[in-house]
Amino acid sequence: MKRILTGDRTTGNLHIGHYVGTLENRVKMQDTHQTFVMLADVQALTDNFQNPGRVHDAVFQVAIDNLSVGLDSDKSTLFIQSLIPELAELTVYFMNLVTLSRLQRNPTVKDEMQQKGFGTNIPVGFLNYPISQAADILGFQADIVPVGKDQAPMLEQTREIAKKFNELYGETFVVPEILLGRVAKLIGTDGNNKMSKSLGNIISLSDDSEQVRKQVKSMYTDPNRVTKDVPGNVSNNPVFIYLDALGKPNHLQTINEFKKRYLAGGIGDVEVKDFLFEVIEDFLEPIRAKREYYQSNPELINKILKTGTERARQEVQNTLEKAKKSMHFSFNDF
Ligand code: TRP
Repeated sequence: MKRILTGDRTTGNLHIGHYVGTLENRVKMQDTHQTFVMLADVQALTDNFQNPGRVHDAVFQVAIDNLSVGLDSDKSTLFIQSLIPELAELTVYFMNLVTLSRLQRNPTVKDEMQQKGFGTNIPVGFLNYPISQAADILGFQADIVPVGKDQAPMLEQTREIAKKFNELYGETFVVPEILLGRVAKLIGTDGNNKMSKSLGNIISLSDDSEQVRKQVKSMYTDPNRVTKDVPGNVSNNPVFIYLDALGKPNHLQTINEFKKRYLAGGIGDVEVKDFLFEVIEDFLEPIRAKREYYQSNPELINKILKTGTERARQEVQNTLEKAKKSMHFSFNDF
């Protein structure tokens, strides 16, 4: 059975961008793959180190997000990154294999540095997180990593580290493949490029109907359409992008009809948005029901995370031992 590993930073609740980028794939694949899902609290701390309490609390929220969309703890292993110190140890060995300039060139790191306004004061921990993420992936000998498009440079760097290690010390690590979601990237409700909590342009998996209604109502559409008889644009329009991303088969006919009418200037934004609201509600309803169940069973969450983390830690311990053997760096007699 092939193995997948993926994970999420624990900074807050996950949103529909996470769903189409990676959650959907991990839930689908857990039947046919050995599935590991990491609650990446150590990574979350690299840009939230002033706020460890928030990162800690979000571990449980993100765990519940995963379970609510259908991750099944009997099939998948859900675990907490900070409880596996061997990942940090593996990171240290990998740090020798990467240059500073290579880290600085990583496009995702570059984007994030700009977004977070670190300027020239870049914390080493932050710059180093791609190496730590490589340890997350290689520590599990993952074959496939289901992630959103923004994570592609991380995977590229991980593959380089795996190859370099194998070359230097002998065949040790699986070189993993990326798997992008059905919709690789979902733009924010403001028509902006990335969904981000701080921009307030997201729809969270935990939003209630009122929050969804408000967000949909204020959504960016096509700025050139002053009245509804002006032919509109559906391709850069988050309303239609979300309809395509979240619509179920029974919505398809209406989606296609609305697109035609929109392109021809034959339908108003309000009508399309009302329909989008329904589609999102249909999507979120079963997720909300599960969330309620898990939220009222905190003991169950603790048990899932405890069992999962023990199982996950064993895997990384085995890999670390293998890596040290390859390096002729294990002191087994001590
Ligand atoms: N970087 C991912 C994010 O921002 C989280 C993550 C940490 C991850 N370790 C990982 C994803 C390993 C895939 C594989 O959400």
